[in-house]
Amino acid sequence: MKILLLGGGGREHALAWKLRQSARVEGVYAVPGNAGIAQEAQIEQGDILNPAQMADLAQRLQAGLTMVGPEAPLVAGVVDEFEARGLPIVGPTCAAALLEGSKIFAKEFMRRHGIPTADFVVCHGTGEARINLGCFGFPVVLKADGLAAGKGVVVAQNASEAEATTSAMLTGQLVGEAGRRLVLERFLQGEEVTFTVLSDGRNLLALPPTQDHKAVFDGDRGPNTGGMGAYCDDDILSPQLTRRIIENIVRPTLEGMAAEGAPFRGVLYVGLMMTAAGPRVLEYNVRFGDPETQPLMMRLASDLLPLLEAVTTGTLDRARPEWAPGATVCVAAASGGYPGEYQRDKPITGIEDAEALAGVKVFHAGTRLRDGQYFTAGGRVLGITAPGASLRDAIARAYAAVEKIGFEGVHCRRDIGRKGLNRQVAGG
Ligand code: AMP
Ligand code: GLY
Repeated sequence: MKILLLGGGGREHALAWKLRQSARVEGVYAVPGNAGIAQEAQIEQGDILNPAQMADLAQRLQAGLTMVGPEAPLVAGVVDEFEARGLPIVGPTCAAALLEGSKIFAKEFMRRHGIPTADFVVCHGTGEARINLGCFGFPVVLKADGLAAGKGVVVAQNASEAEATTSAMLTGQLVGEAGRRLVLERFLQGEEVTFTVLSDGRNLLALPPTQDHKAVFDGDRGPNTGGMGAYCDDDILSPQLTRRIIENIVRPTLEGMAAEGAPFRGVLYVGLMMTAAGPRVLEYNVRFGDPETQPLMMRLASDLLPLLEAVTTGTLDRARPEWAPGATVCVAAASGGYPGEYQRDKPITGIEDAEALAGVKVFHAGTRLRDGQYFTAGGRVLGITAPGASLRDAIARAYAAVEKIGFEGVHCRRDIGRKGLNRQVAGG
């Protein structure tokens, strides 16, 4: 079968790498791809935000399945177009993608269905925002309603910061149209966990838990990024907590969407805060996480294709994925300056040396190949990913590989996975 893959980041490199290992996959075709994806797939031209163009491409390639990496094509309606033409695709329709596409929809949906999340109010204008600003104390969380490429959430420490941010959002200065309406939300404390499920609209399949590291510096300090690294380890959640998350959060979400006439088919990413009062939903994403997908795909021991097919055929109840024991860890190597203005076009060394280490795979997020040499071309450049018999072992292997990588200005967090090690100590 031929697979069409939409997207061009580290997440899509991991998906292409995994799909290409399937005995049933004849070829992977990617738009727009990146220099790493080009090792696994044929790169095709086109605009992933143009649903008709992507459906034409899938028809021309005779793709048996299309997989969508990022959220923007889903919100733009790519799945609706494919379904209208009878083309198999993994992802939610435009209506179901609102879980990520509109923070206001997501919060009001959770309220309607009794799904635990932070208290909130919706603000349409500066007057309304000013009246409500203090009602959850400080810090307070401000969220632009629409898609804002990871820049739509601000944790304001005090009243003056909150007021400045709300007015910058509501006037469109901060994140454009996405911020014209916003959610004001109570600040929650705890550890964040990513809970990913596949859904075919009726059945769900929970994937192992992962944990991202959003802040740029060690110890979760500094501004938020797209994610500086992630690991996959069953010990992130106890079996009891997993059951509770499925019963109190995931099932009501999927049943709620079906009841509202927008059944969710695809990958649902539930971003959780594990508070003292239990898990609370911070956000929904309607796609795989980046970088969570890198350690997730490395831990998947069985074929990915049947899982994706089961999403499109409504047979997830029969899916039986196998997961490698132990843990996997992905460390992001970022460009100097990221997440602010960052440098580009720096030659990268050491990818081959890193991949010569047992089990290591270097996923490309933002790279360019010129005359046989890789150059940096993004904020997050590489995701150095390694498996291990234990989390400690996987961390050691990932960082041994990181040592091999070099480019001017490179920086990475040194503590990816440390919370997991602390948890093991705490839990005995
Ligand atoms: P979101 O896109 O809604 O997940 O927000 C991005 C990040 O902001 C999350 O991953 C958290 O680190 C942080 N965040 C969002 N909502 C809250 C909240 N209510 N309390 C504390 N931190 C939050
Ligand atoms: N790693 C966070 C995200 O994919 O949204």
